[in-house]
Amino acid sequence: MADRYLNFTGTAPGRFLTRRLGLPQPAQLHRWTPERPALDGALLHLTAGESGHTAELAGLLARTGPDVRAAAERPAAIVLDATAVTGIATLAEVHAALHPVARSVARSVAPSGRIVVLGAPLSRDDHHQAAAQQALEGFVRSLGKEIGRGRTVTLVRVEGPVAAAESTLRFLLSPKSAYVSGQVIEVAAGDTTAPADWARPLAGRTALVTGAARGIGEAVAEVLARDGARLILLDVPSAQADLEALAARLDATALPVDITSPDAAERITDAVPALDTLVHNAGITRDRTLARMPADRWATVLDVNLASVLTTTDALLESGTLSRGGRIVATASIAGLAGNAGQTNYAASKAGIAGLTRSLAPKALAEHGVTVNAVAPGFIETKMTAAVPLFIREAGRRMNSLGQGGLPVDVAETTAWLAHPASGAVNGQVVRVCGQSLLGA
Ligand code: NAI
Repeated sequence: MADRYLNFTGTAPGRFLTRRLGLPQPAQLHRWTPERPALDGALLHLTAGESGHTAELAGLLARTGPDVRAAAERPAAIVLDATAVTGIATLAEVHAALHPVARSVARSVAPSGRIVVLGAPLSRDDHHQAAAQQALEGFVRSLGKEIGRGRTVTLVRVEGPVAAAESTLRFLLSPKSAYVSGQVIEVAAGDTTAPADWARPLAGRTALVTGAARGIGEAVAEVLARDGARLILLDVPSAQADLEALAARLDATALPVDITSPDAAERITDAVPALDTLVHNAGITRDRTLARMPADRWATVLDVNLASVLTTTDALLESGTLSRGGRIVATASIAGLAGNAGQTNYAASKAGIAGLTRSLAPKALAEHGVTVNAVAPGFIETKMTAAVPLFIREAGRRMNSLGQGGLPVDVAETTAWLAHPASGAVNGQVVRVCGQSLLGA
């Protein structure tokens, strides 16, 4: 599971040798640790056009942590407010703001830093505005591919008040989003009540994680526990020993249940009458080309990855087990969005998750006060990907803007942001955690 090449290029001889040989040099990403919980350096606040949000955004950014400046050398992050970009002229101000940053080493963003562009929803009446705002998407995705050194670039489309984007900006402007790049995230209006303590936003909340015994699910459990959640950890009975060990470590409840069993939702409700967060993480692969795929291989994957998600979600919403203000986070995959040879079953199931998320989100929010989002991991270093043949594994790892695989904790941090009580304005989003993989959009 270890990325030996990344570890090697992190050493002085490794850097020297790979530079001499002209080999890729993936950066060591700055991820969240208790010792380094924030980006190192100032935050630069830039604006393109006459934004109506300047004062409100300045106040919000001042709350997020880093020291906010109007000019800074080697800032840790740049937030470019492009909400007022309405045509070619104001779009040129985006170039004017970021060209000097990209050009000069002294003014560029520090390694593992962030560029976050704030955009507006595309107008239905003004095609000049829509063109210019859509242009930001191509701009952001291209800059993400150019910028290198572990730096990420994201576009946040703000539909409601800027304050609704606070949890999103806190996430994107922190080391927690190290492997999220080239994404477009929409933030509408919604319940964004700030938690009493931003460091433990899930305090007093109960979360259930499926497939929690290992891999990404285990990391999700650890991060949600760090953020203060009481946890119910679900996995198949054959994983009971690992599940119980994790539950003991996190002071959680182990629930050994196969999520495809007909009474799964009932067993969940028996174990936890009220739930604030439901993380659908359990998933399997049974790869074969369609020509060689028997119906049972198709059905098993669709059952675990999609049918069980539909069934338990419906049951837990209808029974009221998911409380108002609740959060559902499902797990898609870039293979589902981009397609992958040998994975028609898996990709169908994961694309289905994206469909479920987008369709259910507005209904679940209107009827139950619950948001529905999904994470779509790219290449993540787990037992699942360790089983991939070496050459394909190495290609999967490097074929993204950050030149490396992600870690389970990257998916877990993204899940925790979507589960955040202040993330009520983020709904129906499928957020890729893929280092801006070349696969898919
Ligand atoms: P993993 O195989 O390490 O862990 C999956 C967990 O789900 C296991 O503990 C397994 O026992 C559990 N599980 C499987 N079937 C179950 C069932 N019927 N009921 C309850 N639990 C069940 O996988 P990994 O890598 O941690 O993946 C987690 C999720 O992320 C999956 O949905 C996977 O499809 C998705 N994903 C993973 C990627 C990667 O690169 N590792 C990439 C894209 C998506």
